[in-house]
Amino acid sequence: MPRGKPVSAETEPPQQLQLLTPANLEACLALDQAALDGLWSRQQWLRELQEPQRLCIGLLDNEKLLAVACGWLVVDELQITAVAVTPQRRRAGLGHRVLQGLLSQARQMGASRATLEVSASNKAAAGLYARSGFASAGIRRGYYSNGDDALIQWMSLRDTEGVRIADHS
Ligand SMILES: CC(C)(COP(=O)(O)OP(=O)(O)OC[C@H]1O[C@@H](n2cnc3c(N)ncnc32)[C@H](O)[C@@H]1OP(=O)(O)O)[C@@H](O)C(=O)NCCC(=O)NCCS
Repeated sequence: MPRGKPVSAETEPPQQLQLLTPANLEACLALDQAALDGLWSRQQWLRELQEPQRLCIGLLDNEKLLAVACGWLVVDELQITAVAVTPQRRRAGLGHRVLQGLLSQARQMGASRATLEVSASNKAAAGLYARSGFASAGIRRGYYSNGDDALIQWMSLRDTEGVRIADHS
């Protein structure tokens, strides 16, 4: 699928899942500042948005980026690197929706499983991943710089239903 094309218009027409491109760089940086405390630099975001094996799915509402989910496709495994929702719009299902968009797109590109690490203290993210079908597969003690443990999460993509992918090109 060409970058920049809508990848889902299943429900709620004003909000649209889209494969993000370098054209979305400024919006990604702004959402990163608001939701992830500046996780990635401009150069890192550009790489995420440019490289073919790196996927960033955005949920946009009339051009405004509300949520983003990014991952790296390594052979048949999707390694999820970031999920974020604008603080004003949390607990409304947007995180779940953008994550489903990422999983669906990765599955279409050949991924059969997905994995990620989440801080044991990040209850919102852990809750999101549990609700989305991830299971804990291990723990890395003291993995984060603040001493928090990382929970290794894993999910098979084989038997899951995907978000319907619509291409309006
Ligand atoms: C984690 C995050 C993406 C969740 O986004 P969201 O849009 O609020 O999540 P959803 O509304 O889709 O919630 C899905 C499920 O996640 C869980 N969840 C979400 N927020 C939660 C919270 N604050 N506390 C407990 N569980 C939570 C719930 O199980 C929820 O289902 P429910 O609403 O039916 O109970 C969002 O809180 C965020 O952007 N956090 C900052 C960035 C971050 O920590 N990202 C993850 C690491 S990269």
